[in-house]
Amino acid sequence: YVTYRTIKPKQICNPCISKDKDKVVHIENIEDLGEKTSYCRCWRSAKFPYCDGAHGKHNRETGDNVGPIVVKRKNA
Ligand code: FES
Repeated sequence: YVTYRTIKPKQICNPCISKDKDKVVHIENIEDLGEKTSYCRCWRSAKFPYCDGAHGKHNRETGDNVGPIVVKRKNA
């Protein structure tokens, strides 16, 4: 079990997405969201900011346990 405090201060979570930018930000209008959208939180998706399942490979290779945030309408 690894706690947040054991992470080395200089570790990064984003290995390759938009590294030319100072900060990676995506803005989406709530009105444009579909019934259900999965957003990547592992920073390994080829479809970032959307989840493409790459977290599974990352978790298997590293022992990590990350997954997406799923935004859905209540009745979806
Ligand atoms: Fe990153 Fe699914 S691909 S959370």
